[in-house]
Amino acid sequence: MSDTIRKVGVIGAGQMGNGIAHVCALAGYDVALNDLSEERIHAGLATINGNIARQVSKGLVSEEARKEALARIVPATTLEALADCDFVIEAATENEEVKRKIFTALCPVLKPEAMLGTNTSSISITRLAAATDRPERFIGVHFMNPVPLMQLVEIIRGIATEDPTYEATKTFIAKLGKTATLAEDFPAFIVNRILLPMINEAIYTLYEGVGSVESIDTAMRLGANHPMGPLQLADFIGLDTCLSIMQVLYEGLADSKYRPCPLLVKYVEAGWLGRKTKRGFYDYRGDKPVPTR
Ligand SMILES: NC(=O)c1ccc[n+]([C@@H]2O[C@H](COP(=O)([O-])OP(=O)(O)OC[C@H]3O[C@@H](n4cnc5c(N)ncnc54)[C@H](O)[C@@H]3O)[C@@H](O)[C@H]2O)c1
Repeated sequence: MSDTIRKVGVIGAGQMGNGIAHVCALAGYDVALNDLSEERIHAGLATINGNIARQVSKGLVSEEARKEALARIVPATTLEALADCDFVIEAATENEEVKRKIFTALCPVLKPEAMLGTNTSSISITRLAAATDRPERFIGVHFMNPVPLMQLVEIIRGIATEDPTYEATKTFIAKLGKTATLAEDFPAFIVNRILLPMINEAIYTLYEGVGSVESIDTAMRLGANHPMGPLQLADFIGLDTCLSIMQVLYEGLADSKYRPCPLLVKYVEAGWLGRKTKRGFYDYRGDKPVPTR
């Protein structure tokens, strides 16, 4: 089973889904890309097109490989279009209800032997697996953002994930040219268990007036040698995703140290979700991001 994946389905054509489709197609997999509407799928395809073109201009990918990769990705406007996939990776909005509904609708159309993965940043793999008809072939594959550039993929086994599923996933991640680490199925796994409380603390630091957006980001870039400030990173991840992860940590670990900062909650309520809505801790409408506080 460890090398039986030929066609990959990706559900969600947002920043993660289109990145996953991009790296799968470049690695030689056939890809079917699904989202809620044709417009969103085409927006995802346009992003992939632009991102692979950038890799060509940097000499990282040949023109021929670009053309071949783009030809391998087909839009899938219905879940039925994923019926012949060997591995389907769900990368839809970070909301447990949304993901459960997708799995309930998807399972009846899949081949019995198909594997299912989720790119969730924080939700229990065991619980999501239980919403499917194949918990033994269900696994967490947590890609990092931006997918084409980031080397790591966290693999998370649910309690029912069987060894052949894990082995096939490791082979798949290696074929993508990525490095896998294994994380246990605890809220937010490893990377976000450590990263998100740091980002949440940076937002508290802003909320309490300890520093401005600029001073907090400069402090962490130059004082802790982070490549990006924590507020810039929050905008990049998406503030809705950041809030969902903090809520999963807060509820899942029942510890007040994970309480989402009220300012983060307010920004999400305002629809200020970061780069994807052109406003978060920075305003992205002009040529250069402008700090908002
Ligand atoms: N943003 C990050 O840095 C990051 C990093 C790692 C993992 N993740 C995880 O990846 C997943 C996607 O996050 P994102 O940043 O790409 O979000 P996003 O908002 O950019 O994209 C989500 C996409 O899912 C689509 N969608 C929603 N419901 C759907 C449905 N029922 N069927 C098909 N498509 C549906 C939306 O239309 C949207 O295009 C989340 O689980 C998130 O936690 C995000």
